[in-house]
Amino acid sequence: MKDLILGAFQTMNPNGTIGASWRVPGNTDVRYLDLDHWTGLGKRLEEGGFDFLFFADSYGYPMIDGEVIPTALTDAMYIPMADPITVVSAVAAATERLGIVVTSSTTVERPASVARRYGTLDHFTRGRIGWNIVTGAAQASSAELFGEPMIAHDERYAQAEDHLAICLGLWEGSWDDDALVEDADAGVYARPDGVRAVRYAGRHLSSRGVFGIPPSPQRSPLLLQAGTSVAGRDFAARYAEVIFIGGGDADLIRDQIVDIRRRAEAAGRGADALRFLVGAHFVAAATTEEAEHKRAEMVALATLEQAATTYAWVTGIDLTALPLDEPMPDLRTEQGQSSVDRFMDPASGRRKTVRQVLEEYRDNGINGTVFVGDGPGIADQVAAFVDQTDADGFLVQPHVTPQTYDDFVDWVAPALRVAGMLPTDVRPGVTLRDRLLGAGSRLPASHPAAALRRVRSAV
Ligand SMILES: Cc1cc2nc3c(=O)[nH]c(=O)nc-3n(C[C@H](O)[C@H](O)[C@H](O)COP(=O)(O)O)c2cc1C
Repeated sequence: MKDLILGAFQTMNPNGTIGASWRVPGNTDVRYLDLDHWTGLGKRLEEGGFDFLFFADSYGYPMIDGEVIPTALTDAMYIPMADPITVVSAVAAATERLGIVVTSSTTVERPASVARRYGTLDHFTRGRIGWNIVTGAAQASSAELFGEPMIAHDERYAQAEDHLAICLGLWEGSWDDDALVEDADAGVYARPDGVRAVRYAGRHLSSRGVFGIPPSPQRSPLLLQAGTSVAGRDFAARYAEVIFIGGGDADLIRDQIVDIRRRAEAAGRGADALRFLVGAHFVAAATTEEAEHKRAEMVALATLEQAATTYAWVTGIDLTALPLDEPMPDLRTEQGQSSVDRFMDPASGRRKTVRQVLEEYRDNGINGTVFVGDGPGIADQVAAFVDQTDADGFLVQPHVTPQTYDDFVDWVAPALRVAGMLPTDVRPGVTLRDRLLGAGSRLPASHPAAALRRVRSAV
C-alpha cells in the first residue's frame, strides 16, 4: 500500500462543500474573514498530519440570465468568496511544515503578476507554496466582472499554456542560482551577468523581461491542476505535478488517471512524475451508526435548489428550467463541459434524469466521492478505492470546519496508518515539492520547464 497524500480543501466562504453548512452551530468557516480562523486552522491541520491546506477559488458566482441566483446569496453559495492569496503569509508564519496551495485562474490573472506573487510567497513560505492552475469555473460571471468577452473553453487552455510558459520562464530562466551575491564590501547586490531577460511570444500572451525576484527554494511553486475535460487533461499531463480529480465514480476516476498518465508518458515525463488526488467527503465517527447518522444530518440540510445553484455555478445551465423527471438532454456549455459530461454517457445508453443529477449534487457535492463509517470501515473503503483508481491521495472536503478534519484525524488517520496507507512519521523534505514527490525541491529535468532554464538572451 502507498502512503497517501492529504490536502485539506477550503474556500474563503462561510460554507463547507455540501449544502448551506454555515448554519450548523460550531462551523468556524463563518469566520472566514478573521485571520485567526486561518492561522488556527493551519496549525490544527499541521498537527493533524495534513500535507497541505488547499484553497479553491473563483471570481465567478452562480449566474443565470445575467443575474446572480438568489439562492446563492441566501445560502452563501460561492458568494461571498474572499481572496485566499491574502492569507498565505499569515498561515505560513503560524506553521512550519504545512504546504499551502492556492488556486489562480490563467484566464483572469496576468502571468507576470502571478509569477511575482507566487515567487514572493515561495520565499515567505520557505518553499511551501503550490499553485492550483485552473482556467476557471463560473467563467460567464467572471468574464463579465472583468469586462471581457468569455473565451471559448479550449481557447482558455491554449491561453493557459502561454500564461504558464511566461511564468515558468520568469521563475526558471531569468536568474542564475548564484546571481544574488549580496557582497556589501564589493558593492554588488546581484551580478548583472547572472540575470537575463526571458522572451516569450505566444498566440494569446507575450512577454519580455527580467524577473524581479531572486530564486526561491522551489523556484517554480509546486504545479497543481484541476480540470478534466480533454483539453484539461492534456494540459495537466504536460505540466502538472499534482492533479485534482473529481467525479465520484471510481471507474471514471481510474479512466481519467490512466489517460493522463498515458499522455504524460507520451510527453516524455516519467509515470511517477505525477500524483493524483481525489476530492472526497469523509464522514467518520466512533461507530458506523454514528457516522451514518451524521451523514443523514448533513444531507438533510441540503436542498435541490442549492444543488441547482451549484450546477449553474459550474456549467452556467439552469436545471430548474428542465422537466425534473426526464432524462438529461444533450447540453453544451463553454463553461465546464466535464461537469455536464459526467452525467451523460450516450455510449452505454445510461442517462440520469434531471432530478437524479440534482440529488447527486445535493447529497455528494461537486466532487462526488463520499466515504462513511468508523475508522477501520473507512480505511477498508479507501483501500478498495485506491486499488481500483490508482489515486495517490485525497483532498478532504469539509462539511463543518474544523469538525470534519478533527474527525478525520481522530478516526480515519489512525486506521489508515495501521493499514499502511499513511506515513507513521513526518514526511521527509523541506519544500512542498520534495515532500510530495520525493525528488528534490526544483522541477525535474523531465519537466518542460527544464528547457526554459537554457533560454538565454541579452538584457
Ligand atoms: C478537487 C477539485 C478542485 C477544483 N478547484 C477549482 C477551483 O478552485 N477553481 C476552479 O476554477 N476550478 C476548480 N476545479 C476545476 C473545475 O471543476 C473545472 O473542471 C475547471 O475549472 C474547468 O475545466 P475543465 O472544463 O477542463 O474541467 C477543481 C476541480 C477539482 C476536481
